[in-house]
Amino acid sequence: MNDYFGNDEYWKENIHKNLEEDIWIDEYKDYFNGSGLCLDLGCGIGQFTKRLMEYGYDVISSDISDIALNKVKEFNKKIVKADMRKPLQFDDEKFDLVFANLSIHYFSDEETRNLLKEIKRILKDGGLLIGSVNGIQGLQNIKDTAEVLDHHFYLNKGKYIRLFDKKDLKEYLNSFDIIKIEERETIRFNYKKNYIIFIAKKDGK
Ligand SMILES: C[S@@+](CC[C@H](N)C(=O)[O-])C[C@H]1O[C@@H](n2cnc3c(N)ncnc32)[C@H](O)[C@@H]1O
Repeated sequence: MNDYFGNDEYWKENIHKNLEEDIWIDEYKDYFNGSGLCLDLGCGIGQFTKRLMEYGYDVISSDISDIALNKVKEFNKKIVKADMRKPLQFDDEKFDLVFANLSIHYFSDEETRNLLKEIKRILKDGGLLIGSVNGIQGLQNIKDTAEVLDHHFYLNKGKYIRLFDKKDLKEYLNSFDIIKIEERETIRFNYKKNYIIFIAKKDGK
């Protein structure tokens, strides 16, 4: 099976590149009360983990990549290797915040729906899901090489990728109370990147 992230290809390729740090959460600081337990899901090398710890959260950093988690270990001992395509290995209602920056956009429709159910399960009532996903504008960069697998879901050069518009995101988050969905633009590894940030709350229903 093709498993770009499971085989750690992403961080083998990118670990030595300059990752420009767009710590966009500083602009949304009011939504981060800095207390309680946070899961940084698909944490990568942990630049957001670091900031969330500075905000005051007790952070568990989770990723499928050994290379990335080894980096995170330098400043956070609480790391968990996990594959988001599988049920999350955490108890119900454990977290005050689940954070997922540019990390939940690699999955099929079914995997994405299951993951969001799992995130809801591990959040406390009133807990927040905050993160970002690739915007549909990214299609411009891959349209010549990507195979379309499903609505806004592609296989590009051996890597699965999902691109979102606001409507897709609203649909996937429909079991949460959506507080904010906003489009943004950044530079990542020297490329322009359009992404959508989301802030959603588990309403306890
Ligand atoms: C674009 S990086 C984002 C990393 C970090 N959140 C950041 O903002 O820099 C995507 C991350 O998702 C992780 N990832 C991809 N597929 C995964 C999976 N199935 N389970 C867990 N982590 C996964 C990758 O290893 C990578 O660290």
